[in-house]
Order: sequence, then C-alpha cells, then structure tokens
Amino acid sequence: MTGSPSILAAGNVAVLTGAGSGFGRELALLCAARGMKLVLADIQPAALDATVALLPAGTEMLALPCDVSKAAEVMAMAEQTYARFGAAHLLFNNAGVSAGGFSWQSTEDDWSWVLGVNLMGVVHGIRAFVPRMLAAGDPAHVVNTASAAGLVSVPGSSIYCVSKHGVVTLSECLYHELRGAAATVNVSVLCPAFVPTGILDSARNRPAELARVNPTAEVFAARRQKAITSGRLSAADIAQAVADAVDANRFYILPHERIKRAIEVRMHDILEGRQPTDTMPK
Ligand SMILES: NC(=O)c1ccc[n+]([C@@H]2O[C@H](COP(=O)([O-])OP(=O)(O)OC[C@H]3O[C@@H](n4cnc5c(N)ncnc54)[C@H](O)[C@@H]3O)[C@@H](O)[C@H]2O)c1
Repeated sequence: MTGSPSILAAGNVAVLTGAGSGFGRELALLCAARGMKLVLADIQPAALDATVALLPAGTEMLALPCDVSKAAEVMAMAEQTYARFGAAHLLFNNAGVSAGGFSWQSTEDDWSWVLGVNLMGVVHGIRAFVPRMLAAGDPAHVVNTASAAGLVSVPGSSIYCVSKHGVVTLSECLYHELRGAAATVNVSVLCPAFVPTGILDSARNRPAELARVNPTAEVFAARRQKAITSGRLSAADIAQAVADAVDANRFYILPHERIKRAIEVRMHDILEGRQPTDTMPK
C-alpha cells in the first residue's frame, strides 16, 4: 500500500471490460468482495450473465453488453457509468482476442479484428474515461491489459504482439502525460504470460464481417494450446496481482517471473546488435 486510501475500497466504482470470462471475471469477483460498485462490460451477454450470477448478493452493479472495438459503444458505457454511479475509480481495459499464423498470410480481417479489440479497445477506454476522471479530480487508476507478448516477439503471433506492444507503449505514454499533468489518475499495464482462460477460444467472439482467417493459423495452434493450458498461474492469481499493483501504485504488472529473462534477452539482442532470439518455450 502507498499509505493513501485504496482505489479498490468499498463504495468505489470499478469498470471492467471483458468481464464475462478469465481475468475480467476474476477481477470483478475480487472487486465485489471488497464492496466496490461494478460496471461489467463484455461483447457476450450470456458470459456477462454468468459473471453476474457469481457476485455476492447485494453487489451494486451495471452489466452492459459492449463491443470495445466500437468507440461509440465505449463512450455510451462511460455515459451510463457516470449516470448511474457518478464516478469511475478503477478502469480495467482488459477485453482481448487473439489470432495467429504466418505474418505474410495474415488477412486484413485478422488485423482489423485483433487491433480493433486489443489496441483500439484500450484507446477508446482511455478517451471515454480519463477526461471524466481528470475532471472529477479524485484518485483513480487505469489498468490496461497488454501481455508478455507486448514485451517480446512471438513467432506466429505477430498481430497479437503488435496489438500488445501498442498497449504497453500507449500505457507508458499515458503514464508520462498524467505525471506531467500532476493528475490524480494513475496507470498500470498488465503483462502476464500464459494463463488458462477462454483466450484460446477467442474466435467465439469474432464478428461475421471479419471472418477471413489466416490459412496458416493452425500451424501454431498446438504450440499455443500447450503453452496456455500449462500456465501455472490462474486467472484469480492475475486478478490478485492487479489488485496488489493498484494498491502499491506499481506501473508494470508482470505476474510471471520467468518472462523477465526473455525480456532481458530481447534487450541484449537490441543493445548488442545481435539477431533476435526466439524465447518462446518449445
Ligand atoms: N490468458 C492468457 O494467457 C493471457 C496472457 C496475456 C494477456 N492476456 C490478455 O488478457 C485479456 C483477457 O483475456 P483472458 O485471458 O481473460 O481471455 P478470455 O477469453 O477468458 O476473456 C476475454 C473476454 O473478453 C471478451 N471480449 C472479446 N471481444 C470483445 C469485444 N470486442 N468487446 C468486449 N468484450 C470482448 C470475451 O467475451 C471474454 O469474456 C486479453 O486482453 C488477453 O489478450 C491473456
């Protein structure tokens, strides 16, 4: 703790995207256990309902179907948040999807879908909520979900890596801007490695108008599946890591120690002019 009151305090308002599954659901449960009011957003209404059913009785909350890749829907979510609760203290820009395959056979639909959700979803969240948080002048915290794939480069996952590297640098820029403005709003970036969640099955949320899939996606599917299903931390562990980082006002959230070695190797590759090392587990 920093000595200042926790953002995750009873009565404060948490807004979470991708709240129907995985990290979003687990952080929703953690925030509810702390007595926070919740705004839960997801593109899948049934998944949202399933999260709502797990909340302690009496939790004050608003569940909103929202496609984070659509600016107007995220703006509407912010309007509904402030109309209902008058504040947002924690914003978890977390909804995400993944697509794989060789870069040279990627489709425009793959790029539009993954960048639309993973990168523009975070952009829309920042644009919709941070001006309101700044105007309120109260302590608030934005957590953007990137990935370890935002700090290293993974063959077969270029679109996902581009989206997550984008979220890391966007978060770092935002951090500098908020500090420069002496704002009461803080920011963190979440960079987990592999965690078993619904992410392997993210095609379930792919819009019909962006259906053209990289024909080589399957080449990397087994490797991804093995890595994700063998992840040792759970989604609940990641939610706890987020809560701890917000309480400590820590910017980089790297719940998996082992990823630090891969980051170090990449930095040495860059600084020493070496060719890039593939640090993905085989
Ligand atoms: N699981 C991992 O190994 C891992 C590792 C690093 C980062 N991440 C990131 O964590 C975040 C959460 O993923 P997860 O692992 O909990 O996966 P998940 O599939 O369990 O949860 C993602 C949620 O986002 C929702 N969603 C998808 N598209 C959406 C859209 N357009 N608008 C709103 N909601 C949408 C899904 O319905 C789902 O409920 C993602 O950004 C993902 O990239 C996951």
